[in-house]
Amino acid sequence: MNRKKLIAGNWKMNKTSAEAVALAREIVQGAGTRTDVEVVVCPPFTALESVAAVVDGSQVRLGAQNMHFEPSGAFTGEVSAPMLRAFFATHVILGHSERRNLFGETDELVNRKVLSALKNQLRPIVCVGESLAEREASLTLKVVQTQTERALEGVSKELAAGIIIAYEPVWAIGTGKVATTEQAQEVHGFIRGLLTKLQGEAVSQRMRILYGGSMKPANAPELLAQKDIDGGLIGGASLEARSFLELVKAAAGPA
Ligand code: PGA
Repeated sequence: MNRKKLIAGNWKMNKTSAEAVALAREIVQGAGTRTDVEVVVCPPFTALESVAAVVDGSQVRLGAQNMHFEPSGAFTGEVSAPMLRAFFATHVILGHSERRNLFGETDELVNRKVLSALKNQLRPIVCVGESLAEREASLTLKVVQTQTERALEGVSKELAAGIIIAYEPVWAIGTGKVATTEQAQEVHGFIRGLLTKLQGEAVSQRMRILYGGSMKPANAPELLAQKDIDGGLIGGASLEARSFLELVKAAAGPA
């Protein structure tokens, strides 16, 4: 199965609208006509509209970093799927470990968000991954299984293929400690097997599983060459056009 690789930049709480526009321009210039790799940028909410204008007409896609599961209502400070769609966002990161750990997001909440995103034609990038303590206690696969199963509860086979899973070991996020290719492929292969059990072989072979956690131009080629690693969710290295574009190039494979 030939899955198109996907490189997504998670800008987190960085970049004002003006700074985001400048970065998005460089990315569009460097990768805006590429069709061999899917490129997604996820600026903060406040820069979505301005970045949407920059990526319009290019191959670069727009994603958000979070959303509420209700379409509208009394939810102070929240943003909904239809609001994101109105900015022409196509993707949304859900259940990032920072959302889970710093803002108390549960598997159940992530699942409600996944269902709402799909209902509104947004592709969820669902993050799963173990903490250092969980890895040391040999709980990695169990944690990843629970998070993946719960996030996908109630998702139909037709819609499941559009879901993107991001395996992000929490201990590797923003720490410079990248998982070894063996550690990453082991978990990616496990997730693929799990998706096959949940959604069937045909669907699971179409689903992309990204790696995230200190992915950099230096370590990306080896990670991206693994059978079940279909791209990357990039934090730190996505904040600068040069490193992000190098990652996009790495995803395209050897020239
Ligand atoms: P990092 O972040 O690349 O800075 O480790 C990845 C992420 O949190 O998505």
